[in-house]
Amino acid sequence: MNGPLADGFGREVTGVRVSLTDRCNFDCVYCHNEGLGDTRGPMEPDDNEMTADDVVRFLEVVEEFGVEKVKFTGGEPMLRQDLEAIIRRTPDSMETSMTTNGTFLPGRAEDLREAGLDRVNVSQDAIDPEAFAAITKSGAYEQVLEGVEAAVATGLTPVKLNMVVFKHTAGYVEGMVEHAANNDGLQLQLIEYMPELTGHPEWNIDIQRVHDWLADISARVEHREMHDRTRYWIAGDDAAPGARIDASNGGMVEIVDPVENPTFCANCHRVRVTHEGYLKGCLNRNDDLRSMGEMSRDAIRETFRETVANRVPFYGEYMVRDDNDEWVVNDAYVSPPTAAD
Ligand code: GTP
Ligand code: 5AD
Ligand code: SF4
Repeated sequence: MNGPLADGFGREVTGVRVSLTDRCNFDCVYCHNEGLGDTRGPMEPDDNEMTADDVVRFLEVVEEFGVEKVKFTGGEPMLRQDLEAIIRRTPDSMETSMTTNGTFLPGRAEDLREAGLDRVNVSQDAIDPEAFAAITKSGAYEQVLEGVEAAVATGLTPVKLNMVVFKHTAGYVEGMVEHAANNDGLQLQLIEYMPELTGHPEWNIDIQRVHDWLADISARVEHREMHDRTRYWIAGDDAAPGARIDASNGGMVEIVDPVENPTFCANCHRVRVTHEGYLKGCLNRNDDLRSMGEMSRDAIRETFRETVANRVPFYGEYMVRDDNDEWVVNDAYVSPPTAAD
């Protein structure tokens, strides 16, 4: 086995995020679809999606390069009926997780666990059926809660609830934090809204407000910096005052703030694969897509090396702040004009 490949910024690629489809049965108002734009509806698959064989071959090859984690994403990955089969064939050495809207978990959580899935992240932006419906354009609130319960009961834990913090959800942060603090098996990810990918900058909420609020309730909070995100342990209602907080008496809240946290991109160790089998070095860029062609093992190896070699941290390197504190593309990455321009 080769060691992990590193890019020009010393970031080793140890994880891949594999999109299995761009179809989704929800239509969330904020969705960036792994940086590709809109998802399609829950229609029948077209011919463009990677086959299970393609996905497995890809994973076997990147395992050679020391990739140790795979996250299956979408669209909604559970629209793939061969998902369990793909997971069953995923290399045993890899930690295997999935990000899902949760709708199909009630009937399939056990099969997924049995197939080898380690854990799931489920989008849940509010504990409120009306807000949930307005954000997702779906009436599946109860089904998602049941899905989360099924995932916890089956041991697909920790189940991370993904909450995008933006105008429509700001009023639900406190309720979700309490929910995670008081329910075993749950963690909460408070995710900075990224309007760059979906428009609506007016929905933006300064994520610093959440850090500030957690500082205000500090008697119940233990703060632990990670290299790319901030983690807070929140005491549950039963925790004794002054006790060290852990999973037994509280819950973890992670703040995922790629735009505002300079260490996020600097510690990015993942490469994405689109549902059509293109490698993508950065969530925020579609100018770096590379086709793996027919996905032979050699083509995968070569394209993976190229993709890793060309990765650039997005915020802080590819994009920099100008004199007005606005993000602008770093001149160093603007192609020089050609004779044709
Ligand atoms: P785990 O913590 O390992 O489960 O992964 P995760 O939280 O990164 O995965 P998830 O799919 O749940 O991601 C939730 C959200 O975090 C994404 O949709 C993004 O908004 C953000 N995020 C995840 N990966 C990236 C990334 O590579 N770049 C940026 N900018 N944001 C990311
Ligand atoms: N900004 C931040 N997070 C987003 N997600 C989707 N779109 C956005 C966005 N514009 C997150 C959701 C979902 C995960 C796949 O991506 O939390 O769970
Ligand atoms: Fe996300 Fe930054 Fe990595 Fe790009 S470089 S994928 S924006 S963490």
